[in-house]
Amino acid sequence: MAEEGKKRIFSGIAPSGIIHIGNYLGAIKQFTELQLEYQAFFCVVDQHAITVPQEPEKLYQNTLSVAALYLACGIDPSVASIFIQSHIPAHTELAWILNTITPVGELERMTQFKDKIQHQTKEAGVLAGLLNYPILMAADILLYDAHLVPVGEDQTQHIELTRMLAGRFNNRYGETFVTPEPLLQEHAARIMSLLDPTKKMSKSAESAKSYISLLDSPDDIRQKIKNAVTDSGNEVAYDKQKRPAISNLITIHRALTDAGFNTIEEQYKGRGYADFKQDLAEIIIHELTPIQQRYREFMENKKELEHILREGARNASIVSEKKLLAVKQKMGFYI
Ligand code: TYM
Repeated sequence: MAEEGKKRIFSGIAPSGIIHIGNYLGAIKQFTELQLEYQAFFCVVDQHAITVPQEPEKLYQNTLSVAALYLACGIDPSVASIFIQSHIPAHTELAWILNTITPVGELERMTQFKDKIQHQTKEAGVLAGLLNYPILMAADILLYDAHLVPVGEDQTQHIELTRMLAGRFNNRYGETFVTPEPLLQEHAARIMSLLDPTKKMSKSAESAKSYISLLDSPDDIRQKIKNAVTDSGNEVAYDKQKRPAISNLITIHRALTDAGFNTIEEQYKGRGYADFKQDLAEIIIHELTPIQQRYREFMENKKELEHILREGARNASIVSEKKLLAVKQKMGFYI
């Protein structure tokens, strides 16, 4: 576990489907750099996943799969804690407490809530868990006194709510929570769908052609990049407004190679989309092949994975239980 005294970061990924290159470039890739500088907690947020219906066997597999992907992408369990949200009851307990200071109106205006209710079935209606989702996320973050929360752009509204709740609680009961800041990747905070550059790349997308899964085979990656929509014209030039599709692909290239937009444009001057796409597919394959190799090793060695998750939960419970106790004392709970 990282040294005490370092500032903390917290982030989470929901085991609710495949993990795609948007999750990787927007979030996971920065985790591996930050874990050296901060005391880091990376959570598999299974209780967030169940805010939309999950098949039990799939939830079980996806939970282990996200943990294995964290490790395969370079999170080092000797410096960072990886754990499963439902292993730490303090998360739901603090969420309940924060429920009592959260205006329903704030929850109803969350963009992600508004998007997700479109997919809820008529019979089930709008479920309370989906509405309360951001409160659980606030509890995740506030329990660890996280200063920074590395996430993609779609989560910034939830972090804004977390900041509001921290402020409210601190005002009412005295300084208790650190007010966290989101930390976004400058260019990769919102990777778009390969089929529609006006929509973000998403786990719940209907077509698998709209995303690159971290576990896609080289052939699938080549095919998906080849089929990715492009704009009219044939010039590899970054312009988010006028050429959103090729700009999204350039963004992926840039995030994986660290080359500047100008360098990429220079490199492909006069060469057209097809050449660029071929290279991009190989760049992605080059990045994902070793991740997939390590992923398989972790998935085949469940004992080690379980040990890492238990250790992570132990570290997480030490920090979170202390914070929860302080919260309850301040509120007048009889401890
Ligand atoms: P989730 O599981 O949907 O996504 C995991 C991370 O990936 C980022 N992301 C993207 N980044 C760039 N481009 C995209 N197209 C893209 N799609 C997703 C997300 O912003 C996220 O950082 N509510 C969270 C999980 C969560 C959490 C937390 C995060 C629960 N508690 C506490 C941080 C702190 C979610 O559903 O992420």
